[in-house]
Amino acid sequence: MCGIIGVIGADDVLLTILEGLGRLEYRGYDSAGVVLSGHDGLWRCRAAEGTHSVSDLRGLAEDAPTRPGSGVGHTRWATHGEPTAANAHPHFDCTGRLAIVHNGIIENHVELSDRLVAAGHVLVSQTDSEVLCHLIESEMADGASLSDGMRRALGQVRGSFAVAAMHADEPDLVVASRRISPLIVGVGDGASFLASDIPALLGSTRELFALEDDQLAELRPGAVQVMTLDGAPARATALSIDWDVAASRQGGFDDFMTKEIHEQPTAVADTLLGRCRADGALVLDDASGLGAADLRAVERVCIVACGSSYHAALVGKYAIERWARLPTQVDIASEFRYRDPILDEGTLTIGVSQSGETVDTLQGLREARSLGSKILVVSNVVDSSMAREADGVLYTRAGPEIGVAATKTYLTQIVALEFLALVLAQARGSLSSTEIARLMDCMLGLPDHLDTVLERTKDVAAVAQALDEARDFFFLGRHVGHPVALEGALKLKEISYLRAEGYPAGELKHGPIALIEPGTVVVGIASRNDLWEKMCSSIQEVKSRGATIVLVGNDGDEQTAELADHMLWVPRTEPMLSPVVDAIPLQFLAYWLAKAHGHDVDRPRNLAKTVTVE
Ligand code: F6R
Repeated sequence: MCGIIGVIGADDVLLTILEGLGRLEYRGYDSAGVVLSGHDGLWRCRAAEGTHSVSDLRGLAEDAPTRPGSGVGHTRWATHGEPTAANAHPHFDCTGRLAIVHNGIIENHVELSDRLVAAGHVLVSQTDSEVLCHLIESEMADGASLSDGMRRALGQVRGSFAVAAMHADEPDLVVASRRISPLIVGVGDGASFLASDIPALLGSTRELFALEDDQLAELRPGAVQVMTLDGAPARATALSIDWDVAASRQGGFDDFMTKEIHEQPTAVADTLLGRCRADGALVLDDASGLGAADLRAVERVCIVACGSSYHAALVGKYAIERWARLPTQVDIASEFRYRDPILDEGTLTIGVSQSGETVDTLQGLREARSLGSKILVVSNVVDSSMAREADGVLYTRAGPEIGVAATKTYLTQIVALEFLALVLAQARGSLSSTEIARLMDCMLGLPDHLDTVLERTKDVAAVAQALDEARDFFFLGRHVGHPVALEGALKLKEISYLRAEGYPAGELKHGPIALIEPGTVVVGIASRNDLWEKMCSSIQEVKSRGATIVLVGNDGDEQTAELADHMLWVPRTEPMLSPVVDAIPLQFLAYWLAKAHGHDVDRPRNLAKTVTVE
């Protein structure tokens, strides 16, 4: 999704912007641009993908002003208008003296644009963002300052925005504001910064603050002043940063996805670290605002999430229902708040989101809160928007994930949710302390199993090579294997662009089996659990229709291997924890097939890392 960085007062403004944009590339983008304050007005350069990317901006920036005092950069993920240079940000007003970058969607842009055009403004792009620039221009026509112009303009806007603006008449000022779309500001040594995401600023300052909805910040060299859109003084929320710059670099691996897959044993261990006390008590984060009494009062659980986080949530449902005996529903966040959900004070609503910024999940949680529900967030980003609004937070401690396709954040979400299921079970007394201790031991043993599977990447590469002509994939699983199948299919389509569907194996006979024919690849999650025999029956059914069978199975399980054309071996674990281990060969399978088809695994087409628009 779009990325923003703004810098004022730094020694090398342009370099800081380009490096920051480079660190935002992982969010996914299709064009990029920069605006700098120069001696005779603003200087801008923009590049669209296909011809240029952020690294190519460096070349285009050769004629940039020397020692600019301030500047703003942007990576765009197209929503309104194609990914062309003309639609790339920064956008100018009619005079070319006012520039803005914007993330989010201006929902009433057509109405605003009609009004502005009627008043004589000339808009040159197809974007909703450019409208905002002209709206600020029109609000400054009476001599108002940039801040006042922005405040008045934003008062007329419906939708979401993180916006930063500069004006040639006020070169020592950058003004920024947000609603729904995230924006952080930072101060350091005579300079000030803003960005849509923490990694962009990790190399510049660690004194970072999150702007809240409808706050506006005036950035001057070394100083940031925050106020509300009404002009009243306000405070942004200080952020605790425990990531370092090295964690957001590639560190010798071929790509971020490989690095992040290999970081999973550590990420899982870190997520559980210190959460089981010597006396067997399980603890949520210290900062958790949900105490034992709150947990005991929970009558049912509702989980909202999108994409891979939704799949992790489905695993969480099995664990919470089985161990804590609490009825649990899982909702796709983009649908949740539009279906008039029935929640109350007895409902614990859990938002699962690695970024903590996904707008559908964030808005779903707000809906749940308005209905009286307590909110718990499972997030990988400390002090993310969701974390700040929640009653309690359970952080996955996976470190920054740069590859667009979720890997280590997904795995740690499963672990966090299964841990939460045990916390709830302990609070409610639905499992004996012996059983909780046994399950916790199994969880703590997961990193060793993951290390074992990671050594098998070359075996999976060989399977991928044998399948490189295949175009249609079905992923089948039962029970907790079902979400594993869904995630395996999602990973494959995301990075290899192959058609892949995930199904509960028992559902196959109710329609999808019509699509099975020689050449179709069926990937079955056949690690041992109570439904293993039923799973094998489904595999027999597709095998007898000519499908090529790839099975995830437990080491040494020859009965499973007899059904398969290709095996993806994994160590045997406690069945409820098997999704953690079973996910890895499917990540590798997607990876090697994507590589075989020549795709960029870190930046798959059309995708964004953090989805901050509906
Ligand atoms: C898939 C993927 C996405 C995200 C989804 C939710 O690899 O990364 O499906 O899982 O966009 O994002 P978060 O977890 O940030 O809310």
